[in-house]
Amino acid sequence: MKITIVDNEQIFDETAAWRIVNQMVSKKDSVICLSTGRTTGNMHRRVAEICKASSFDTSRLTITGVDEVVNVPREYSGACYTMLWNEIVKDIDIKEENFIMLPTISDDFDKACKEFLEELGRRGGIDLLILGLGENGHLGFNQPGTSFDSSAWVTKMNEELEERIRRETQTPQEVMLGGVTLGLKDIMQARKIILVAKGANKAESVKKMLRGPLTEAHPASILRLHPDCEYLLDKAAAAEL
Ligand code: GLP
Repeated sequence: MKITIVDNEQIFDETAAWRIVNQMVSKKDSVICLSTGRTTGNMHRRVAEICKASSFDTSRLTITGVDEVVNVPREYSGACYTMLWNEIVKDIDIKEENFIMLPTISDDFDKACKEFLEELGRRGGIDLLILGLGENGHLGFNQPGTSFDSSAWVTKMNEELEERIRRETQTPQEVMLGGVTLGLKDIMQARKIILVAKGANKAESVKKMLRGPLTEAHPASILRLHPDCEYLLDKAAAAEL
């Protein structure tokens, strides 16, 4: 098990950014799957800075995301598409068709999930997956209780996030708000995973992930079965190990 603990947030962002850049450089047609949220914004901006200041070819890369919010326009600032676009994609030289995301709106999400997985497969599968960690152990939008055998699907998001998005998008209660996400089985198929967690609010979840039982009650515990998963933590997130 590879656990990397860094002293502060700045080193955390820098370390993660260079892991991503290393993947971009070592395999020019890499499929890189990212997560959105408070943990990953700065590392994405740092990757964009490094790319701008360097001259390596990024035109054959595929950038994708592990999950997406459903039933909001993809242009909404809290949609994963727009977050990734603003944080990283707009500033690196990749073709528009090489930024692929699960849709925010669809009349057939089952079909959209299937097509998304097929597209990832056509591109050779995910080479590097950067995963954020929920305080309750969620990965993507796979909340506690999700089957380890799950494949891309539409599910609930955490209540706090749902409430915020509903408020910001003025989405009425009768419209379902949720998340479409790679399932845990899909996540485990990535060739390399880096789980990133920072801050004291993640310490308990990190402990359960690495030291607790292997259980669907804490989805991130499944990562211990992955042959190439690194855990990148800041001191605060690692405090209970
Ligand atoms: C969100 C997202 C995940 C993200 C995680 C951590 O709900 N669906 O993709 O990795 O929770 O978010 P944060 O980094 O803001 O704690």
